[in-house]
Amino acid sequence: MKKNKLWTILFISILTVLCISIGIKGFRKDTSYKPKPVPKRIVLIGHIDNNPYWQVVNKGAEEAAAERGCILEYMSAKDGSLKDGIRQLDMAIASKADGIITYVQEEEQYTSYINKGIEKEIPIVTIDTDAESSNRIAFVGSDNMAAGEAAAKALIKSAKSSGSIGIIVGSNSVTNQKERVKGFEDFIKENSRLKVEAVEASDFSVLQAELVTKKILKDKPYVDYLYCTSALDGVGAAKAVNELGLSNKIKIVCFDDMTETLDYVREGIILATILQDPYKMGYKSLEVVMDKIEGKQIQTQYDIAFKVIDKGNVDKYNVK
Ligand code: BGC
Repeated sequence: MKKNKLWTILFISILTVLCISIGIKGFRKDTSYKPKPVPKRIVLIGHIDNNPYWQVVNKGAEEAAAERGCILEYMSAKDGSLKDGIRQLDMAIASKADGIITYVQEEEQYTSYINKGIEKEIPIVTIDTDAESSNRIAFVGSDNMAAGEAAAKALIKSAKSSGSIGIIVGSNSVTNQKERVKGFEDFIKENSRLKVEAVEASDFSVLQAELVTKKILKDKPYVDYLYCTSALDGVGAAKAVNELGLSNKIKIVCFDDMTETLDYVREGIILATILQDPYKMGYKSLEVVMDKIEGKQIQTQYDIAFKVIDKGNVDKYNVK
């Protein structure tokens, strides 16, 4: 009986030592386990769904995100309204994104949201159009005053010495649209006898651009040239000119390279279009946010060069 008890005690002791050593081993193994770092989540807020320009911006950002090993979430609004833009920015801040890249519809309205995000230590970059008075960490986009000036030069190059101009802007309150008008008007005033006779807004809608073009040409039938400051405006204006049978009389200078824009350049209705580099804007802005997150040095301004496209080079430039 005593012998049996002794054997039992011995057996239990061996078992306990075994369990403890296995446990310690297992425990040790656990401590050597290193979880994979969670990839950073960057939100890119574009403007309006139906403008292909933003799909190219997104493509550039996506490729940079794949290279930097982060997750990119893209969003833009169906109607491109101010309300939706701000709601998307606010949502991105509330969802604790690691970084945000945003288009700015109205600087005054966006500034407090951008500053709120920055206070929460979310790096925010403005893209395509700026909110300089906010605490955004950087702006990535074209020099829009210079782009307006380039549009004026292109028009003067092909225009008669005098004549009348109608302007169609995407919006009267978006900074880059205002700058494109200012750069254009200043240069026209100083360097020609051409006169700006009307400015109408399209709300970034092809249909609305078509309607306001018809209005300008009805109210001021002496207008010879149209200057359009967003991609959709150029296409809408050219459609209206075609429909009114005025393609031999009215000539257009506009922005960007929608397929229809390039066709109108080939046909000669559009004299020139200012080509920005939306791919590079998307790519660069993603890099800037990630550089900031990784503690690298960044600038506050990144100027993305633009080109002037006309009949002479329309089939030669590189499309991304
Ligand atoms: C422009 C952009 C602009 C955008 C608005 C484009 O056609 O050229 O720079 O901000 O439209 O969605």
